[in-house]
Amino acid sequence: MPATLVIGMQWGDEAKGKIVDILAHDHDYVVRFNGGDNAGHTIRSGGVTFKLHLVPSGVMYPDKPKVIANGVVVNLKTLLAEMKEVEAAGYPLKSLAISESAHIIMPWHIVLDGIEDERGGIGTTKKGIGPAYADKAARVTAIRMADLLLGELELREKIERIGAIKNSIIEALGGEAVDAAKIAEETAASARVIRPYIKDTRFMLNDALAKGKRVLLEGAQGGLLDVDHGTYPYVTSSNMTAGGACTGTGIPPSKIDKVVGVAKAYTTRVGSGPFPTELTDETGEKIRQKGAEFGTTTGRPRRCGWLDLVVLRYTAMLNCPDELALIKLDVLDGMKELKACTEYEMEGTGRKTKQFPSDINALAKMKPVYKSFKGWPAFDWKSVKGRKGLPKEMQEYLSFIEKETGVPIKFVSYGPAREETLVLD
Ligand code: GDP
Ligand code: IMO
Ligand code: MG
Repeated sequence: MPATLVIGMQWGDEAKGKIVDILAHDHDYVVRFNGGDNAGHTIRSGGVTFKLHLVPSGVMYPDKPKVIANGVVVNLKTLLAEMKEVEAAGYPLKSLAISESAHIIMPWHIVLDGIEDERGGIGTTKKGIGPAYADKAARVTAIRMADLLLGELELREKIERIGAIKNSIIEALGGEAVDAAKIAEETAASARVIRPYIKDTRFMLNDALAKGKRVLLEGAQGGLLDVDHGTYPYVTSSNMTAGGACTGTGIPPSKIDKVVGVAKAYTTRVGSGPFPTELTDETGEKIRQKGAEFGTTTGRPRRCGWLDLVVLRYTAMLNCPDELALIKLDVLDGMKELKACTEYEMEGTGRKTKQFPSDINALAKMKPVYKSFKGWPAFDWKSVKGRKGLPKEMQEYLSFIEKETGVPIKFVSYGPAREETLVLD
């Protein structure tokens, strides 16, 4: 049985968590494969809401195994707090597995992220993501889940040794040294709790697939935050485009037979970097307020703008989704007019392009060329059955998105709850 991949098509926060929670019903395993607690995935059903940062969004199905795979970077404190919160709400996590090869975000990564972002100006979540992935690639001063299986003395010695190296870097950058001995002690204490969950998840997942189990892969962030294909350097440090699901889990590409792309009906972005369709006017503020566009992880106001089809065509090319989930259409209810960007015009030259530029300096010069749509009046979503029951203006908007991206829209979402979703025929 093959795997399904859920991927963000914009700059993150597309509601991947909500779609994973819905699809989890028809899958046996739910797997996070990239990023760390920079992610914030909201799920809501039956009056229960979780804002998850590390634990996969299948928590409302306690019997289904949930996996934090090798591509994830894990903050142990966040993970333990989140596990406690989920279990306290009545959803046991006995079935959680964490890859031996997943890297650990250490307190010095967080300190370094703070210092470096002050200069870099990326507007990171300050969760230590970049420094942790940098250590993973550099191989010398990284600590992995497998290290938590070492004898306690050996683990403490390793942490104190690496801590001393990191402190020399922190101090050279003008920062305040961390207490490596205390970190070693705290990590050893976390290790005692986390050890039973640490597994070889590559074999676990491939064995499950061989036995006909269905695996759901939950991407964090979005295509434009991908370290290779996003708006570099205003990106995160992992690959959430389709290939990242393979390297991040050890599941081969031939085993992924379905990709579901998640996109908002407009566009948002948190942090710095070019954003061609950004609305800095009243309309943008209206969308932010109505859509409650404030970061799930940091609470920062999200930058808001019209739907950008240059972006969606680009991330559709990178991920080749079989179907789209279009989110937050309710936020556009009652608008007189809405717009979607179909191509860019390069400032000063009049030259137009439908291609998303790889160079952010070029992207920063792009002005959106819009197609206008007549808005639809507010209506009772709950009484709608299929696509034909939607206002005709919305049907036109949906058809245009499908034509431009070449991907059928399967899900339409009109509220945060699992139940506030239409499956289109
Ligand atoms: P993720 O990171 O992709 O999982 O998305 P987030 O959870 O960070 O952000 C999506 C936000 O939109 C959350 O607050 C959701 O509860 C909310 N949400 C999801 N779907 C809808 C929808 O269709 N309408 C509205 N108004 N809110 C939604
Ligand atoms: P989910 O999974 C939105 C953004 C940060 C910043 C940049 C780099 O909830 O969609 P980092 O801390 O990763 O080094 O920050 O990436 N960012 C996200 N934006 N949703 C996310 O995750 C994000 N994860 C990182 O705001 O601009
Ligand atoms: Mg989010």
